[in-house]
Amino acid sequence: MDSRLPLHRLDSAQTYLVAWDGDDPIGHAPIAWHGSRLGHPEVQDVYVLPEQRRRGVASALTRAAERLAAERGRPRISLSFGIANDAARLLYKKLGYRDAGVEPERVTGTIIIRGQPTEVDDTLIYLVKDVDSGSSRSS
Ligand SMILES: CC(C)(COP(=O)(O)OP(=O)(O)OC[C@H]1O[C@@H](n2cnc3c(N)ncnc32)[C@H](O)[C@@H]1OP(=O)(O)O)[C@@H](O)C(=O)NCCC(=O)NCCS
Repeated sequence: MDSRLPLHRLDSAQTYLVAWDGDDPIGHAPIAWHGSRLGHPEVQDVYVLPEQRRRGVASALTRAAERLAAERGRPRISLSFGIANDAARLLYKKLGYRDAGVEPERVTGTIIIRGQPTEVDDTLIYLVKDVDSGSSRSS
């Protein structure tokens, strides 16, 4: 699978959701259940293969993460995205996320993104969504 998808979070993710098109992995969404900035389960680095975008894959992965959180009795889920990432901003707005009310987080330096050391200078916006059993059923 790692010939298709960047799997650098596979070892560290506490849950690793994968979207499939037949036998082909086409997207993923790692979930951290502990140790997130906001203390809620955090969907980290949703990624969909470029040729599979705008088909609802990221929406399906994010909703699956919300259902898992609700099933585990966690009332809220969080995530962050780079301030200039319009696709992510529009995606999460459509899915009903709201501003988490925390200061945006400046991230600078060399970090590993999808398996590659990458220089970053970005500002992360944190969002949350309530995922009690009522809202998870309606999504
Ligand atoms: C952001 C990303 C995950 C979206 O994946 P996707 O499977 O294409 O998203 P969906 O098809 O579920 O999109 C749902 C909605 O989000 C919005 N959206 C998603 N991508 C968009 C884009 N490029 N431009 C504008 N709106 C977009 C739209 O409202 C879309 O609904 P529509 O297609 O009916 O108009 C994908 O572009 C990606 O992998 N990008 C690179 C990695 C990344 O930036 N991840 C986010 C990290 S937080």
